[in-house]
Amino acid sequence: MKEKIEQLRKKVEEFKSETPQHLEEFRIRILGKKGELTEMFDEFKNVASEEKREIGKLLNEVKILVQQKLKSQKELFDNVETGKNIADKTLPANADNPGSRHPVNLAKNEILEIFTRLGFTVADGPEIEDDWHVFSALNFPPNHPARDMQDTFFIEQNPDILLRTHTSSIQVRTMERQKPPIRVVCPGRVFRNEAISARAHCIFHQVEGLYIDKNVSFADMKQTLLYFAREMFGENTEIRLRPSFFPFTEPSAEMDVSCKICGGKGCNICKYTGWLEVLGCGIVDPNVLEACGIDSKEYTGYAFGMGVERLAMLKWQVKDLRLYFENDVRFLEQFQSVI
Ligand code: DAH
Repeated sequence: MKEKIEQLRKKVEEFKSETPQHLEEFRIRILGKKGELTEMFDEFKNVASEEKREIGKLLNEVKILVQQKLKSQKELFDNVETGKNIADKTLPANADNPGSRHPVNLAKNEILEIFTRLGFTVADGPEIEDDWHVFSALNFPPNHPARDMQDTFFIEQNPDILLRTHTSSIQVRTMERQKPPIRVVCPGRVFRNEAISARAHCIFHQVEGLYIDKNVSFADMKQTLLYFAREMFGENTEIRLRPSFFPFTEPSAEMDVSCKICGGKGCNICKYTGWLEVLGCGIVDPNVLEACGIDSKEYTGYAFGMGVERLAMLKWQVKDLRLYFENDVRFLEQFQSVI
């Protein structure tokens, strides 16, 4: 008998009701007319008199336990029904899962922050643009391949309207609106008609920079970009400028930074060259200045443009561009500790 009572006590202690109905079934199973405890009380009559005291005590204890259990479990359901907080209100609140900033935003904010420290302001412009702001004003010849449907998304009804392929269009808008000196950085989303792969996407982000004043030189640009590279990738970073071509700058260059993974010795990230390409730049072509109403005899300037995803890839060694667009929480959560 003692053993049976013990087993019942255990069962009651472990019991957790899932629904009010489940709780009622539990009550009937234990305290109902044919309930386990009711039957034990019946059997109690047959217990030898010298054991009665001890067994009676055990039975009563289990009965009290059952009643307490019924009461506390019922309260849980009552509170849920009335919307009352069942938890101890004096406990500190449970922290929600904190979100994290998107790595593209983190990289973009860092780039902008570095340039605003140098006195650049942030300028914005539309994603749906016209041919003038994306191509013509930027000195693209009429048959330039970028003007091709293969590279640019055009609006079918009107080929003059297109999705901007670079944020250099904001450079044009700024020059049209503002008199020099001009010092702006232009972040934004850009669109290109590309097949999506680990290294290319039809949507990505750029930050473009533009500096126009009297006597602005290539050396000014180089110094500014060196400062940027060291702030972004670390103080020991070196830069290298390679001659290149863009319709809107002359001369034009592409800038590499020394690979911070191998310190320039060569690894698979820098393809054993010791250098990583990060941006395009150059001295603004006088044709561009004139197209935007700025006297190219009085003013000169430099411009540069970079892909935000590319910089983020280099910073965090993410090798597949698609990860930035899939919004897989497991990927994004890794950036929680980066501010
Ligand atoms: N617009 C260029 C691109 O999308 C990037 C660029 C290169 C911008 C050189 C510039 C520049 O302003 O001077 O690839």
